[in-house]
Amino acid sequence: MKKKKRIAILTGGGDCPGINAVIRAVAKKAINEKNMEVIGIEDGYHGIVNNRHRKLEYDDVSGILTLGGTILGTSKTANPYHYAVKKGDQFKFQDVSKIAIQNIINLDLTCLVCIGGDGTLEIAYRLFKDGIPVIGLPKTIDNDLRGTDITFGFDSAVSIATEGIDRIHTTAESHHRIMIVEVMGHRAGWIALYSGVAGGGDIILIPEIPYDINIIAEKVKERNKKGKRFSIVVIAEGAKPKGGDIVIQRIVKESSDPIRLGGIGFVLGEQIEKITGIETRTVVMGHLLRGGPPTPFDRILATELGAQAIDMIENKKFGYMVGVKSNALVTVSLKEVAKGPKVVPLNHPMIKAARSLGTCFGD
Ligand code: F6P
Repeated sequence: MKKKKRIAILTGGGDCPGINAVIRAVAKKAINEKNMEVIGIEDGYHGIVNNRHRKLEYDDVSGILTLGGTILGTSKTANPYHYAVKKGDQFKFQDVSKIAIQNIINLDLTCLVCIGGDGTLEIAYRLFKDGIPVIGLPKTIDNDLRGTDITFGFDSAVSIATEGIDRIHTTAESHHRIMIVEVMGHRAGWIALYSGVAGGGDIILIPEIPYDINIIAEKVKERNKKGKRFSIVVIAEGAKPKGGDIVIQRIVKESSDPIRLGGIGFVLGEQIEKITGIETRTVVMGHLLRGGPPTPFDRILATELGAQAIDMIENKKFGYMVGVKSNALVTVSLKEVAKGPKVVPLNHPMIKAARSLGTCFGD
């Protein structure tokens, strides 16, 4: 009898709506159509290093399309090439990739499917270079992944952020206040730009365009003169003033990318209130953007990408990620994906359109 092919699925990095939808798509197609065996690796690369995994049956992945988070667990710190081991209060980093690779070899996999953002897929690329057949799937609310126009999770995050801005709008107007909404996005401004435009933000501040506080204050005053006695500022967590720096919320010592951003909205709020004399409040949306069910768009995207991953396995297209370019599915080499984050280009049509409507970008 022909031996069943076996694949494993791993989810790494920050969770986001749509991960379970993609796990479902990969596993269902593998089991249903290809008669493959599916293994779920637990807690991202921790599961590879420590041999923690379980078999996924059809029933395990049925009924999870709309479920937020990841049924497999994830990790933002586990990296087999730079693995943090706690010694007392300190972390020591070790290269445990040989152990990780042997553990994968022992699983006798046709392919390791890595669902993740830039960090996870960079590690996937290293594993590929070390001889492991891998395929990547583009996940992150930040949409900052190279080689794809869009990642699943992004549309859901934009939708949640937009709802937040809509709700802030009414209270801002009632109280004649400046309301600042800080959104995640890491070092890229995709979420702030899209939700800022969708929510009709008066001022949108993204990392790619360092802001001048005086220009923001002028914009607010100008609106007041025109009878608009409130203003909405949407600011990306990675935004920074001209000549200034980002605001760091915490350092996660055990992480290869230890900086966690957050708090720039409060800094801006204090300054803006001082300059304009207008009462100002700040709301940080934070991890809210990563929770709950995916939007229909993300469910569809995750389903298409997941199904495509199985075709790539059949065609032995290892070392590649499935992405989207101009509304079509494409395969992109992980080498390209691992080149670093995709930030908002300054000539992005949405920036141009928003500017033409009077939106201020703080420059
Ligand atoms: O990459 C997803 C993301 O949510 C970023 O937008 C944010 O900067 C970071 O993760 C937050 O990380 P943590 O979950 O460790 O707080």
